[in-house]
Amino acid sequence: MSKIVVTGKIPNAGLEVLRKAGLNPQAWSQDVAMSREELLKQVQGAEILVTLLTEKVDSELLDAAGSQLKAVCNVAVGYNNIDVAACKSRGVTVTNTPGVLTDATADIALALILMVTRRLAEGERVIRSKTPWQWGMHYMLGTGITNRVLGVIGMGAIGIATARRAKACGMSVIYYSRSEIDSKIADDLGARKVSLDDLLSESDVVSIHCPSNESTHHLIGAPQFKKMKPTAFLVNTARGPIVDEQALVDALKAKEIAGAGLDVFEFEPKINEGLLDRDDVVLIPHLGSATTETRDAMAMLAANNAVAISKGRSPLTPVG
Ligand code: GLV
Repeated sequence: MSKIVVTGKIPNAGLEVLRKAGLNPQAWSQDVAMSREELLKQVQGAEILVTLLTEKVDSELLDAAGSQLKAVCNVAVGYNNIDVAACKSRGVTVTNTPGVLTDATADIALALILMVTRRLAEGERVIRSKTPWQWGMHYMLGTGITNRVLGVIGMGAIGIATARRAKACGMSVIYYSRSEIDSKIADDLGARKVSLDDLLSESDVVSIHCPSNESTHHLIGAPQFKKMKPTAFLVNTARGPIVDEQALVDALKAKEIAGAGLDVFEFEPKINEGLLDRDDVVLIPHLGSATTETRDAMAMLAANNAVAISKGRSPLTPVG
């Protein structure tokens, strides 16, 4: 029987899939993540690893696992924690969990758009800090999103789902994407494909939905902030390293942009100190896929990939 190691705590729904298939996963059951040292020990002899996005799957870990390793099944759609080239060169299959977290993540993108443009977190801080306040015609005015332009960077499933929500709120949509999208979807959204520079200069809200890799590292940095409108907002629900976080702090200080809503951070879980006391940013702790049903679905999809591979079948959602 394949030795399957689940390297982080995942919902029971995922473990059940493995058990029902007759597999007996060795699963980490503590809320606190395993130390690296422990991880390198636990993976020894595994044929399949089920991993979380907090675990770095690199050559060191692959060597520690051993040459019998067949697959790494990530419980996340993003797989920037995995050195896919190192896996490929060892013949190790990598899978992720696309589809099942699309709506949950797009909901968070829309939430951040509304929170940052309407100053909702700032308003909540006023109430919670018991600061005196009074309704007033000029009190805590934000920016409406109706008739404004959303610029989507990365028009995959989550980008499209975010665009749909924004359209329902009266926004128009432009996008920058490596891949072509279905023309019917683009027509329904009335979405126009543009260059990154045009997206930056035309958007009132820029929302990031592309994968994090070498080519998107610091895709948004100092030169890009200078191209944005001083009234525009940046929202990131994809991965932190796509944005140069220090350049973001500098752009906010210089009022090159109006604000940012962030669910992900460059050096997660560390947050750049320069962001912490700013009222023009909304900061939430990587909650994009954090609903019970979504996490169950992610764990089940990763487990089904593991089952397929252990039975010699093709995985459902391979990467690359
Ligand atoms: C969450 O961030 C994911 O990539 O699934």
